[in-house]
Amino acid sequence: MNAGIIGIGRCLPDDKLTNFDLEKRMDTSDEWIRTMTGIQERRIAKDEQDTSDMAFNAAQKAIEDAGIDPSEIGMILVATVTPDQPFPSMACMLQEKLGARNAASMDVSAACAGFMYGVVTGKQFIDSDVYKYVLVVGVEKLSKITNWEDRNTAVLFGDGAGAAVLGKVSEGRGILSFELGSDGSGGKHLYQDEHLVMNGREVFKFAVRQMGETAINVLEKAGLTKEDVDFLIPHQANIRIMEASRMRLELPVEKMSKTIHKYGNTSAASIPISLVEDVEEGRIKDDDLIVMVGFGGGLTWGGIAMRWGK
Ligand code: UT7
Repeated sequence: MNAGIIGIGRCLPDDKLTNFDLEKRMDTSDEWIRTMTGIQERRIAKDEQDTSDMAFNAAQKAIEDAGIDPSEIGMILVATVTPDQPFPSMACMLQEKLGARNAASMDVSAACAGFMYGVVTGKQFIDSDVYKYVLVVGVEKLSKITNWEDRNTAVLFGDGAGAAVLGKVSEGRGILSFELGSDGSGGKHLYQDEHLVMNGREVFKFAVRQMGETAINVLEKAGLTKEDVDFLIPHQANIRIMEASRMRLELPVEKMSKTIHKYGNTSAASIPISLVEDVEEGRIKDDDLIVMVGFGGGLTWGGIAMRWGK
Protein backbone atom coordinates (compact mmCIF):
# COMPACT_ATOMS: atom_id res chain seq x y z
CA MET A 1 0.00 0.00 0.00
CA ASN A 2 1.11 3.50 -0.91
CA ALA A 3 1.24 6.68 1.15
CA GLY A 4 -1.55 9.06 0.21
CA ILE A 5 -3.67 11.88 1.57
CA ILE A 6 -6.45 10.76 3.94
CA GLY A 7 -7.64 14.11 5.31
CA ILE A 8 -7.54 17.76 4.25
CA GLY A 9 -8.40 21.18 5.67
CA ARG A 10 -7.76 24.85 5.02
CA CYS A 11 -7.99 28.21 6.73
CA LEU A 12 -8.44 31.58 5.08
CA PRO A 13 -8.57 34.88 6.97
CA ASP A 14 -11.90 36.73 6.69
CA ASP A 15 -10.61 40.11 5.51
CA LYS A 16 -10.43 40.65 1.76
CA LEU A 17 -8.06 43.13 0.15
CA THR A 18 -9.24 43.84 -3.40
CA ASN A 19 -7.35 45.31 -6.34
CA PHE A 20 -9.52 48.40 -5.95
CA ASP A 21 -8.34 48.77 -2.34
CA LEU A 22 -4.74 48.57 -3.61
CA GLU A 23 -5.42 51.21 -6.28
CA LYS A 24 -6.05 53.64 -3.41
CA ARG A 25 -2.78 52.73 -1.67
CA MET A 26 -0.27 52.65 -4.53
CA ASP A 27 0.30 53.43 -8.21
CA THR A 28 -1.42 50.37 -9.67
CA SER A 29 -4.71 49.41 -11.29
CA ASP A 30 -7.21 46.58 -11.10
CA GLU A 31 -6.74 46.13 -14.84
CA TRP A 32 -2.93 45.71 -14.61
CA ILE A 33 -3.15 43.26 -11.74
CA ARG A 34 -5.90 41.16 -13.31
CA THR A 35 -4.28 41.02 -16.75
CA MET A 36 -0.73 40.45 -15.56
CA THR A 37 -1.44 38.02 -12.68
CA GLY A 38 -5.08 36.85 -12.68
CA ILE A 39 -5.52 38.12 -9.10
CA GLN A 40 -8.66 40.05 -8.10
CA GLU A 41 -8.45 39.91 -4.33
CA ARG A 42 -6.46 38.28 -1.53
CA ARG A 43 -7.04 37.53 2.16
CA ILE A 44 -5.09 39.37 4.85
CA ALA A 45 -4.88 38.06 8.41
CA LYS A 46 -5.52 40.39 11.31
CA ASP A 47 -2.68 41.18 13.75
CA GLU A 48 -4.03 38.70 16.29
CA GLN A 49 -4.24 35.85 13.73
CA ASP A 50 -0.64 34.73 13.31
CA THR A 51 0.80 31.92 11.17
CA SER A 52 0.43 29.30 13.92
CA ASP A 53 -3.27 30.17 14.38
CA MET A 54 -4.03 29.58 10.70
CA ALA A 55 -1.95 26.40 10.74
CA PHE A 56 -3.86 25.11 13.79
CA ASN A 57 -7.25 25.82 12.23
CA ALA A 58 -6.39 24.05 8.94
CA ALA A 59 -4.72 21.13 10.78
CA GLN A 60 -7.73 20.54 13.06
CA LYS A 61 -9.99 20.24 10.01
CA ALA A 62 -7.60 17.85 8.24
CA ILE A 63 -7.34 15.63 11.34
CA GLU A 64 -11.13 15.57 11.70
CA ASP A 65 -11.49 14.77 8.00
CA ALA A 66 -8.99 11.90 8.39
CA GLY A 67 -10.97 10.57 11.35
CA ILE A 68 -7.89 10.05 13.52
CA ASP A 69 -6.85 11.15 16.99
CA PRO A 70 -3.99 13.72 17.26
CA SER A 71 -2.09 11.25 19.47
CA GLU A 72 -1.78 8.91 16.46
CA ILE A 73 0.28 11.44 14.45
CA GLY A 74 3.93 10.41 14.24
CA MET A 75 5.29 13.56 12.67
CA ILE A 76 4.27 17.16 12.03
CA LEU A 77 5.86 19.07 9.15
CA VAL A 78 5.04 22.74 8.66
CA ALA A 79 6.11 24.40 5.41
CA THR A 80 6.39 28.15 5.87
CA VAL A 81 8.71 31.13 5.37
CA THR A 82 6.64 33.35 7.67
CA PRO A 83 6.68 31.61 11.09
CA ASP A 84 5.48 33.46 14.20
CA GLN A 85 9.16 33.55 15.26
CA PRO A 86 12.37 31.75 14.14
CA PHE A 87 12.00 29.17 16.92
CA PRO A 88 10.35 27.25 18.48
CA SER A 89 9.16 25.95 15.14
CA MET A 90 5.58 26.25 13.92
CA ALA A 91 5.45 22.45 14.01
CA CYS A 92 6.27 22.40 17.74
CA MET A 93 3.66 25.08 18.44
CA LEU A 94 1.15 23.02 16.49
CA GLN A 95 2.13 19.83 18.33
CA GLU A 96 1.21 21.49 21.61
CA LYS A 97 -2.00 23.14 20.37
CA LEU A 98 -3.22 19.87 18.84
CA GLY A 99 -2.18 17.68 21.76
CA ALA A 100 -0.25 15.49 19.31
CA ARG A 101 1.81 14.04 22.14
CA ASN A 102 3.56 11.35 20.07
CA ALA A 103 4.68 13.54 17.18
CA ALA A 104 8.17 14.57 16.10
CA SER A 105 7.97 18.15 14.80
CA MET A 106 9.92 20.33 12.41
CA ASP A 107 9.46 23.11 9.90
CA VAL A 108 10.33 22.87 6.21
CA SER A 109 11.88 25.86 4.46
CA ALA A 110 11.37 25.58 0.72
CA ALA A 111 9.26 28.71 0.13
CA CYS A 112 6.36 28.20 -2.30
CA ALA A 113 7.46 24.59 -3.01
CA GLY A 114 7.33 23.86 0.74
CA PHE A 115 4.13 21.82 0.72
CA MET A 116 5.55 19.57 -2.02
CA TYR A 117 8.74 19.10 0.02
CA GLY A 118 6.69 18.36 3.15
CA VAL A 119 4.44 15.77 1.51
CA VAL A 120 7.38 13.98 -0.13
CA THR A 121 9.29 13.94 3.19
CA GLY A 122 6.26 12.65 5.08
CA LYS A 123 5.68 9.96 2.46
CA GLN A 124 9.11 8.44 3.20
CA PHE A 125 8.22 7.88 6.86
CA ILE A 126 4.89 6.28 5.94
CA ASP A 127 6.32 4.04 3.20
CA SER A 128 9.03 2.80 5.57
CA ASP A 129 6.41 2.07 8.28
CA VAL A 130 8.15 4.39 10.74
CA TYR A 131 4.99 6.48 11.28
CA LYS A 132 1.37 5.63 10.60
CA TYR A 133 0.25 9.23 10.06
CA VAL A 134 2.13 12.42 9.16
CA LEU A 135 0.53 15.87 9.28
CA VAL A 136 1.77 18.32 6.63
CA VAL A 137 0.77 21.99 6.72
CA GLY A 138 1.53 24.74 4.20
CA VAL A 139 0.93 28.13 5.81
CA GLU A 140 1.93 31.74 5.22
CA LYS A 141 1.25 35.15 6.63
CA LEU A 142 3.03 36.94 3.81
CA SER A 143 1.35 40.24 4.66
CA LYS A 144 3.84 40.65 7.51
CA ILE A 145 6.89 40.58 5.20
CA THR A 146 5.27 42.42 2.27
CA ASN A 147 6.73 45.81 1.37
CA TRP A 148 3.53 47.81 0.94
CA GLU A 149 5.55 50.54 -0.84
CA ASP A 150 6.65 48.13 -3.61
CA ARG A 151 3.97 47.67 -6.25
CA ASN A 152 6.06 44.96 -7.96
CA THR A 153 5.38 42.56 -5.08
CA ALA A 154 2.64 44.02 -2.84
CA VAL A 155 -0.15 43.17 -5.27
CA LEU A 156 0.78 39.48 -5.53
CA PHE A 157 0.58 37.85 -2.13
CA GLY A 158 -2.02 36.72 0.41
CA ASP A 159 -2.34 34.83 3.70
CA GLY A 160 -3.75 31.37 4.40
CA ALA A 161 -3.14 27.74 5.35
CA GLY A 162 -3.80 24.27 3.97
CA ALA A 163 -3.20 20.93 5.68
CA ALA A 164 -3.12 17.25 4.79
CA VAL A 165 -2.88 14.08 6.84
CA LEU A 166 -0.81 11.40 5.13
CA GLY A 167 -1.37 7.71 5.72
CA LYS A 168 -1.57 4.42 3.84
CA VAL A 169 -4.33 4.27 1.21
CA SER A 170 -5.95 1.49 -0.86
CA GLU A 171 -4.02 -0.39 -3.54
CA GLY A 172 -3.45 1.71 -6.67
CA ARG A 173 -4.17 5.01 -4.92
CA GLY A 174 -1.84 7.54 -3.29
CA ILE A 175 1.45 9.13 -4.30
CA LEU A 176 2.77 7.40 -7.43
CA SER A 177 5.85 9.51 -8.11
CA PHE A 178 7.52 12.77 -7.19
CA GLU A 179 10.32 15.13 -8.11
CA LEU A 180 12.07 17.66 -5.88
CA GLY A 181 14.80 20.02 -7.00
CA SER A 182 16.71 23.17 -6.18
CA ASP A 183 19.04 25.71 -7.76
CA GLY A 184 20.66 28.00 -5.19
CA SER A 185 22.24 30.11 -7.92
CA GLY A 186 18.78 31.64 -8.45
CA GLY A 187 18.37 32.53 -4.77
CA LYS A 188 19.12 36.16 -5.54
CA HIS A 189 15.89 36.47 -7.55
CA LEU A 190 13.50 35.92 -4.62
CA TYR A 191 14.44 36.38 -0.98
CA GLN A 192 13.63 38.11 2.28
CA ASP A 193 15.79 41.00 3.41
CA GLU A 194 13.59 42.88 5.81
CA HIS A 195 10.77 42.51 3.32
CA LEU A 196 10.18 40.15 0.45
CA VAL A 197 12.31 41.15 -2.56
CA MET A 198 11.76 39.73 -6.06
CA ASN A 199 13.02 39.95 -9.60
CA GLY A 200 9.68 39.05 -11.15
CA ARG A 201 10.94 38.61 -14.70
CA GLU A 202 13.60 36.05 -13.71
CA VAL A 203 11.27 34.11 -11.45
CA PHE A 204 8.66 34.09 -14.19
CA LYS A 205 11.04 32.61 -16.78
CA PHE A 206 12.25 29.95 -14.35
CA ALA A 207 8.71 29.05 -13.31
CA VAL A 208 7.33 28.65 -16.82
CA ARG A 209 10.17 26.30 -17.76
CA GLN A 210 10.34 24.33 -14.50
CA MET A 211 6.63 23.79 -13.83
CA GLY A 212 6.03 22.14 -17.19
CA GLU A 213 9.19 20.08 -16.99
CA THR A 214 8.47 18.82 -13.48
CA ALA A 215 4.89 17.90 -14.41
CA ILE A 216 6.14 15.84 -17.36
CA ASN A 217 8.90 14.25 -15.25
CA VAL A 218 6.56 13.01 -12.51
CA LEU A 219 4.27 11.49 -15.12
CA GLU A 220 7.18 9.69 -16.76
CA LYS A 221 8.39 8.40 -13.39
CA ALA A 222 4.92 6.96 -12.75
CA GLY A 223 4.86 5.35 -16.21
CA LEU A 224 2.05 7.67 -17.29
CA THR A 225 1.51 10.26 -20.04
CA LYS A 226 -0.29 13.60 -20.22
CA GLU A 227 -3.37 11.80 -21.57
CA ASP A 228 -3.72 10.08 -18.18
CA VAL A 229 -4.03 13.35 -16.22
CA ASP A 230 -7.46 14.17 -14.80
CA PHE A 231 -6.53 17.32 -12.90
CA LEU A 232 -3.60 19.71 -12.48
CA ILE A 233 -2.94 21.76 -9.34
CA PRO A 234 -0.20 24.28 -10.12
CA HIS A 235 1.19 26.61 -7.47
CA GLN A 236 -1.05 29.68 -7.69
CA ALA A 237 1.57 32.33 -8.41
CA ASN A 238 0.44 33.90 -11.67
CA ILE A 239 -2.31 32.83 -14.06
CA ARG A 240 0.10 33.16 -17.01
CA ILE A 241 2.56 30.71 -15.39
CA MET A 242 -0.30 28.34 -14.52
CA GLU A 243 -1.64 28.51 -18.08
CA ALA A 244 1.79 27.63 -19.47
CA SER A 245 1.83 24.45 -17.34
CA ARG A 246 -1.71 23.58 -18.40
CA MET A 247 -0.79 23.95 -22.07
CA ARG A 248 2.32 21.83 -21.61
CA LEU A 249 0.02 19.02 -20.42
CA GLU A 250 -2.54 19.89 -23.14
CA LEU A 251 -5.36 20.01 -20.61
CA PRO A 252 -8.68 21.87 -21.00
CA VAL A 253 -9.23 24.84 -18.65
CA GLU A 254 -11.69 22.96 -16.43
CA LYS A 255 -8.98 20.42 -15.57
CA MET A 256 -6.77 23.00 -13.88
CA SER A 257 -7.19 24.27 -10.35
CA LYS A 258 -7.72 28.02 -10.05
CA THR A 259 -8.01 29.89 -6.78
CA ILE A 260 -5.51 32.67 -7.52
CA HIS A 261 -8.24 35.20 -8.38
CA LYS A 262 -9.63 34.91 -4.83
CA TYR A 263 -6.54 34.38 -2.70
CA GLY A 264 -3.50 35.64 -4.66
CA ASN A 265 -0.21 33.84 -4.12
CA THR A 266 -0.25 32.21 -0.66
CA SER A 267 3.14 30.53 -1.21
CA ALA A 268 3.37 27.17 0.62
CA ALA A 269 -0.39 27.25 1.28
CA SER A 270 -1.54 27.66 -2.31
CA ILE A 271 -1.50 24.02 -3.40
CA PRO A 272 -3.23 22.55 -0.31
CA ILE A 273 -5.83 25.37 -0.23
CA SER A 274 -6.63 24.66 -3.89
CA LEU A 275 -6.73 20.92 -3.27
CA VAL A 276 -9.35 21.34 -0.54
CA GLU A 277 -11.55 23.51 -2.77
CA ASP A 278 -11.25 21.15 -5.75
CA VAL A 279 -12.20 18.12 -3.66
CA GLU A 280 -15.03 19.92 -1.81
CA GLU A 281 -16.48 21.32 -5.03
CA GLY A 282 -16.31 17.97 -6.85
CA ARG A 283 -13.60 18.75 -9.41
CA ILE A 284 -11.43 15.96 -7.97
CA LYS A 285 -13.04 12.54 -7.50
CA ASP A 286 -11.80 9.21 -6.21
CA ASP A 287 -9.33 7.50 -8.55
CA ASP A 288 -8.58 10.70 -10.48
CA LEU A 289 -4.95 11.08 -11.49
CA ILE A 290 -3.81 14.45 -10.19
CA VAL A 291 -0.55 16.28 -10.74
CA MET A 292 0.54 18.93 -8.23
CA VAL A 293 3.49 21.14 -9.07
CA GLY A 294 5.10 24.06 -7.28
CA PHE A 295 8.15 26.34 -7.44
CA GLY A 296 9.53 29.06 -5.25
CA GLY A 297 12.36 30.96 -3.63
CA GLY A 298 15.58 29.06 -3.22
CA LEU A 299 15.07 28.44 -6.01
CA THR A 300 13.10 25.26 -5.32
CA TRP A 301 10.59 23.12 -7.14
CA GLY A 302 8.57 19.99 -6.52
CA GLY A 303 5.93 17.87 -8.18
CA ILE A 304 3.78 14.89 -7.26
CA ALA A 305 1.60 12.55 -9.32
CA MET A 306 -1.08 10.88 -7.23
CA ARG A 307 -4.19 8.76 -7.62
CA TRP A 308 -6.78 10.44 -5.40
CA GLY A 309 -8.71 8.62 -2.69
CA LYS A 310 -8.20 6.82 0.63
O1 UT7 B 1 5.62 32.11 -5.72
C1 UT7 B 1 6.68 32.58 -6.48
C2 UT7 B 1 6.72 34.07 -6.39
N1 UT7 B 1 6.78 34.88 -7.51
C3 UT7 B 1 6.23 34.75 -8.73
O2 UT7 B 1 5.68 33.77 -9.11
C4 UT7 B 1 6.33 35.93 -9.62
C5 UT7 B 1 6.71 35.61 -11.03
N2 UT7 B 1 6.66 36.82 -11.82
C6 UT7 B 1 5.53 37.41 -12.21
O3 UT7 B 1 4.45 36.95 -11.90
C7 UT7 B 1 5.64 38.63 -13.09
O4 UT7 B 1 6.99 38.89 -13.36
C8 UT7 B 1 4.97 39.90 -12.50
C9 UT7 B 1 3.45 39.76 -12.50
C10 UT7 B 1 5.46 40.13 -11.09
C11 UT7 B 1 5.32 41.11 -13.36
O5 UT7 B 1 5.01 40.85 -14.71
P1 UT7 B 1 6.07 41.14 -15.86
O6 UT7 B 1 5.45 40.75 -17.14
O7 UT7 B 1 7.35 40.44 -15.49
O8 UT7 B 1 6.21 42.71 -15.81
P2 UT7 B 1 7.44 43.65 -15.41
O9 UT7 B 1 7.91 43.41 -14.02
O10 UT7 B 1 8.46 43.60 -16.48
O11 UT7 B 1 6.73 45.05 -15.44
C12 UT7 B 1 6.09 45.59 -16.60
C13 UT7 B 1 5.64 46.99 -16.30
C14 UT7 B 1 6.73 47.87 -15.72
O12 UT7 B 1 6.57 49.18 -16.23
P3 UT7 B 1 7.49 49.72 -17.44
O13 UT7 B 1 8.89 49.62 -16.93
O14 UT7 B 1 7.20 48.78 -18.57
O15 UT7 B 1 6.98 51.10 -17.62
C15 UT7 B 1 6.45 47.86 -14.24
O16 UT7 B 1 6.93 49.00 -13.60
O17 UT7 B 1 4.59 46.96 -15.31
C16 UT7 B 1 4.93 47.85 -14.23
N3 UT7 B 1 4.38 47.33 -12.99
C17 UT7 B 1 3.15 47.67 -12.54
N4 UT7 B 1 2.21 48.48 -13.04
C18 UT7 B 1 1.07 48.59 -12.34
C19 UT7 B 1 4.93 46.45 -12.13
N5 UT7 B 1 4.08 46.22 -11.11
C20 UT7 B 1 2.97 46.96 -11.35
C21 UT7 B 1 1.75 47.12 -10.65
N6 UT7 B 1 0.82 47.94 -11.20
N7 UT7 B 1 1.48 46.47 -9.50
